[in-house]
Order: sequence, then structure tokens, then C-alpha cells
Amino acid sequence: MENYVLITGASSGIGRDIAVTLSKTYPLILGGRNVERLEETRAMCTDSDKHIFWNYDLADVENIYDNLTAFIKNNELKVGGFVHSAGIWFVTTLNLVKLNDVQKMMNINFLSAVEILRSLVKRKTNAKNLKDVILVSSIAPFKSAKGEAFYAASKAAINVFARAMADELAPNTRVNTINPGIIHTPMMDNLLRDNEQFEKHKRTYLLGFGETEDVANMAEFLMSDKARRITGQHFVVDGGATIAI
Ligand SMILES: NC(=O)c1ccc[n+]([C@@H]2O[C@H](COP(=O)([O-])OP(=O)(O)OC[C@H]3O[C@@H](n4cnc5c(N)ncnc54)[C@H](OP(=O)(O)O)[C@@H]3O)[C@@H](O)[C@H]2O)c1
Repeated sequence: MENYVLITGASSGIGRDIAVTLSKTYPLILGGRNVERLEETRAMCTDSDKHIFWNYDLADVENIYDNLTAFIKNNELKVGGFVHSAGIWFVTTLNLVKLNDVQKMMNINFLSAVEILRSLVKRKTNAKNLKDVILVSSIAPFKSAKGEAFYAASKAAINVFARAMADELAPNTRVNTINPGIIHTPMMDNLLRDNEQFEKHKRTYLLGFGETEDVANMAEFLMSDKARRITGQHFVVDGGATIAI
């Protein structure tokens, strides 16, 4: 049996498309809270009966390590890849933000990746199997936008963590981030429905807004042997938004 790739956020948007793309090559562990939506993703995948679910709410960050370690052990899984696409996004200012909301964002966007990786590199169970890690970040840490401080901070944490882990886990495991700009997904629905926001952002997206397949194609490349010398890097997929004035 080939080693599995664990994908969080596989029930929607970017994570779903990465799952569909990677399913052509790997058996998958589809991570998410909503089994109905995970079923939809599985039905879209190649060889759908090869893929299994890890049904977990990542907001419960304290129990991720034990839960995932037991899941891997009980199912006798070898996990060769990890893609962290689960995430939440909100816009708010320092005056209005609530500490609970910042903590929830840090838990889902960043700390859950730490806890999952901690489980996947556990020596006795999986450490030798893990070859590729892709953390879905954002261009938010590279481009300031009012109200995005907390989201940008959670993604900046992911960027720094990826570089440090690339160093710590070499040469067995490669760790990279993909940093998308605006991609058409349910997360961006409200923003893109707001005419003023739509027009404002459209001006800086030299190649237009992205589609989930733009990120999935990058994930497919990074997961492959073609990227075997690449680690600790950030791959911006933003239609030119970070270089536009
Ligand atoms: N779309 C963009 O423009 C854009 C740009 C830059 C970066 N990103 C990043 O890309 C990643 C995917 O976003 P998306 O656009 O695909 O958004 P999406 O369609 O809203 O998908 C978000 C995914 O995260 C999962 N998730 C949220 N909270 C969770 C929790 N507590 N436990 C487990 N899973 C949880 C969701 O699962 P449920 O189905 O259970 O809710 C869903 O699968 C995120 O990390 C986001 O920050 C997106």
C-alpha cells in the first residue's frame, strides 16, 4: 500500500481541489468536520474507495495530537504527505476584536498544523514515512490590508514555522508553503459580492482572481519528485497582486 497524504480542509474550496488533484496519485486521508461534504469530495476523487476520513474539529487543538496518533495507529496507516488547507478568515480592527476570536484563528490556521505535524513525526509510528509537507498560507503577511492583522499574523506564523521545520526535518521531510492571493472559494464569497471591495481588489490582480486549480497545480508539483530539491520556500500564487502598486 502506498503511503497516504493527509489533507485538512478537504471538505471545501482549495483543500477539496487539492484532494481531487492528488487523488490521481495517492491514497488520501480527507480531514474535515462535515462528513457529508467530505463524502462529496471523495466522490469527486479518482479511485474514491481508496480514500478515508479523519473527522475532526481542529478548534479542539488540545486533543489533536492524541486523536491523530491513535487514528494512525488503529488504522495501521503510513502517512507520507501532509497538506494543511483548513483555515478561517475574518476582518476586524484592534478596537473591535475579541481575544477568543484571535485564539480560534491561531488554533485553526496555525497551531493545528503544529499538533498534526508533531503527531506525524512521532518516531515510533510515522516519522520515517513523512516526506512532504505543504502548508497553505496566504499573501496576507506580505501585503498589509486594514482589518487583516490577525489573519496575517496566523499566516506569518505558518511561514516562519515552515522554514524552521524545513531545517529541523531535513533531509527526510520537505516543508513548503503555498501563499495564494484571492481565489474563488466559499471563503471569499462575501468579499467578492461586495462591489466596492471587488473593484478595489480587481485593480491589483494583474492576472485576475485565481481558481482553486491554480493552487492545486502548485501542490501537485510540490508533492512530486520534480520538487525534490525544494524546501523551506514560499510559493506565491496571486496573479501579480503583491507586485502591483
Ligand atoms: N480563498 C482565498 O482567497 C484564499 C487566499 C489565501 C489563502 N487561503 C487559505 O486557503 C485555505 C483554504 O481556504 P478556502 O478558500 O478553500 O476556504 P473554504 O472553502 O472556506 O474552506 C475552508 C476549509 O477549512 C475547514 N475548516 C474551517 N474550520 C475548521 C475547523 N474548526 N476544523 C476543521 N476544519 C475546518 C473547512 O471545513 P468545514 O467544511 O468543516 O467548514 C473547509 O474545508 C485556508 O487556509 C485559507 O486561509 C484562501
